[in-house]
Amino acid sequence: MTAPDDFVVDFVGGALGYRHRHGGGKGQALHKAVGFGKGPPPLVADATAGLGRDAFLLAAEGARVILIERAPAVHALLAEALARAAAAGPDYAAITARMTLIPGDARTVLPTLPERPDVVLVDPMHPPRGNSALVKKEMRLLRDLVGADPDAAELMAVALDTALKRVVLKWPLRAGFLPGLPRPSHQILGKSTRYDVFMIHHET
Ligand SMILES: C[S@@+](CC[C@H](N)C(=O)[O-])C[C@H]1O[C@@H](n2cnc3c(N)ncnc32)[C@H](O)[C@@H]1O
Repeated sequence: MTAPDDFVVDFVGGALGYRHRHGGGKGQALHKAVGFGKGPPPLVADATAGLGRDAFLLAAEGARVILIERAPAVHALLAEALARAAAAGPDYAAITARMTLIPGDARTVLPTLPERPDVVLVDPMHPPRGNSALVKKEMRLLRDLVGADPDAAELMAVALDTALKRVVLKWPLRAGFLPGLPRPSHQILGKSTRYDVFMIHHET
């Protein structure tokens, strides 16, 4: 399935560009969850790239981000958006230079990455909410293209085996935990979503 003609991903204009130019910063809940601190920004594998917003916001603050997307139509939208942003001036070119897009299922791609990421970010399609009027148009269009992600727990298991430092699961604020996973080490709560953070403990 291909995306409708009027469905474009835009890192430069729209809400995302505005947030980058006027807000942003390392204090955003996403950045706290991923572990931005005083040291160098982490290498992040975004296992569910989707419309690339989280990846862009992380790269805008200096992180290198590997974006993995399995839906061919969504991958194509992302590739076009990255190319357009790269041509939109030196600021955007520097950000997109930190973003690497890989097609495929993250369950098979993550274990084959040439460099193990510090952080794996997992943001599967969220279960539908009761009030569909609250769901933004672009998320509805995305759902039409990719459907649900019933294998999210399996992806989380691979993410936990891959990340060097932490795995971050973005999930609806009030939804239950995914079955079969350990409890998160801590949570960062937003208005409608939360970040469940799983710290990786290495054997010594
Ligand atoms: C909710 S969206 C992610 C939105 C994204 N965080 C953003 O900021 O735009 C979920 C996306 O992850 C993709 N996805 C889900 N499971 C995946 C997997 N195992 N491997 C690669 N992509 C996956 C879906 O196709 C969908 O495009």
